[in-house]
Amino acid sequence: MCSWARGVLIALLWGTSTTALASGVPEGVEVLGRPATDTEVIAWDIDVRPDFLGLPPGSGDVWQGEETWLAQCASCHGDFGDSNEIFAPLVLGYITEDDIATGRVAALQDSAVTRTTLMKVATLSTLWDYIFRAMPWNAPKSLTHDEVYGLVAYLLNLGYVVEDDFVLSDSNIAATQALMPNRNGMSREHGLWSVRGEPDVTGSSCVRDCDVGTAVISSLPDYAMNAHGNLAEQVRDWGPYPGLWTAPDNMATDHAVAEVAAPDAALNAGGCAGCHQMSGQLVGPDFEAIRARYAGEEHIAYLRDKIANGGVGVWGSVPMPAMPGVDDDALQQIVAWLISGDGG
Ligand code: HEC
Ligand code: HEC
Repeated sequence: MCSWARGVLIALLWGTSTTALASGVPEGVEVLGRPATDTEVIAWDIDVRPDFLGLPPGSGDVWQGEETWLAQCASCHGDFGDSNEIFAPLVLGYITEDDIATGRVAALQDSAVTRTTLMKVATLSTLWDYIFRAMPWNAPKSLTHDEVYGLVAYLLNLGYVVEDDFVLSDSNIAATQALMPNRNGMSREHGLWSVRGEPDVTGSSCVRDCDVGTAVISSLPDYAMNAHGNLAEQVRDWGPYPGLWTAPDNMATDHAVAEVAAPDAALNAGGCAGCHQMSGQLVGPDFEAIRARYAGEEHIAYLRDKIANGGVGVWGSVPMPAMPGVDDDALQQIVAWLISGDGG
C-alpha cells in the first residue's frame, strides 16, 4: 500500500484528519482505538485545583446539604459526620474560633485528640473535589454540582465554620477558603518520603542512576510502623522508593532471618517447656531441631495450626496436645522465632 493510501485508511480508522495521522503514526504501527470525544474529556477532566480552577458553577445551602447528607452520607459517616465506624470522623467539635482566625487547628498538637477531616484539610477545593469524585462510596460521581456545594456547606456548618443560613457557591468559595480552620497547616518540612534526611516534596529527587537503598528511604513515626503490615515487602525493592522495613524486629521473614531472640515469656506461659527444651529431646522434639526443620515464612500457617490444635506422627508416636490457651500475640512471637532459624 502506498503511503498516501495508508494515511487515508488510518484516518478512516482513527476518524481524524489525514495530515495529523500521517505524521503522528509511525510506519508499521497498527492504529487501535480513537481519540476521546469532547464529552468524554469533559467527564474525565473534573479536578478542582486549590485556586478553584476547574470548579463548575453552582450553589447549595446548609439545609439542602443536610438533606442530601442524611439520604446519602449519614449511613456511613453518622448524622453529624462524627461516626468512627466506616471511616475516621469527618467532623467533631474540636475546632475553635481561634483556629479559624489563625488557620491552624491547635487540637492537632494533642495526640490524644481524634483527628478529623475538617481539622486537617487545608484546602476547600480538596473537600469539593473529593466528594464529587469519590462519594458516596457506593455510588461515586452520582452527585450533582449543586448537591456537592450543599454538602460542603453542611460539613463546614457542622464544624462551626459557617452559619446555618450559609449558601456556598462558586462566587464565594474563595472567600470561604479564607475561613478554613487548618488552611495554614500545610508544611514542606516533612514529607511522606525523605531523601538524604530531607522531605521529598517535589517528587523529582531521583530520576536516573539512583543510589537505591541508601539515597531514598521512606520514614514513619514509631506509632505508624507496621500499621499496614511490612511496607518493605509490599513495595518493589528497586527504583527510588524501595519502602521501609516496618515490621517489628521479632516478626521474622526471609529478609530478617537469624537473630530473633527466643520468646521466653510466651514459651513459659504456654507451658511448652514441660515437653520441649532448647536442645535435646524431651517429651517432644527440641526447639533447635524444630527451628532447623521449619525455617522460612512458608511454615507460618502450618506451625500456628499445629501449636493451636496439636497433632501427632511427625516426630514419633507421642502426640502434642492442642494448646488453645496460647493467645494470638504469643503464638505470633513463637512462630516468628521458630521460622527464623537458618535452616541448618
Ligand atoms: C458506603 C459508605 C459511605 C457512604 C455512603 C459515604 N461515604 Fe464518604 N467515605 C467512606 C469511606 C470508606 C471513606 C474512606 C475512603 C478511602 O480512604 O478510600 C470515605 C471518605 C470520605 C471523605 C474523605 C475523608 C478523609 O479524611 O479522607 C469525605 C469528605 C467523605 N467521605 C464524604 C462523604 C459524603 C459527602 C458522602 C455522601 C454524599 C459520603 N461520604 C458517603 C464511606 C462512605
Ligand atoms: C505435653 C507435651 C507437649 C507440650 C506441653 C507442648 N508440646 Fe509441642 N510437641 C510435643 C510432641 C510430643 C511433639 C511431636 C508431635 C509430632 O510428632 O507430631 C511436639 C511437636 C511440636 C512442634 C513441631 C510440630 C511438627 O509438626 O513438627 C512444635 C512447633 C511444637 N511442638 C511447639 C510447641 C509449643 C510452642 C508449645 C507450647 C505452647 C508446645 N509445643 C507444647 C509435645 C508437647
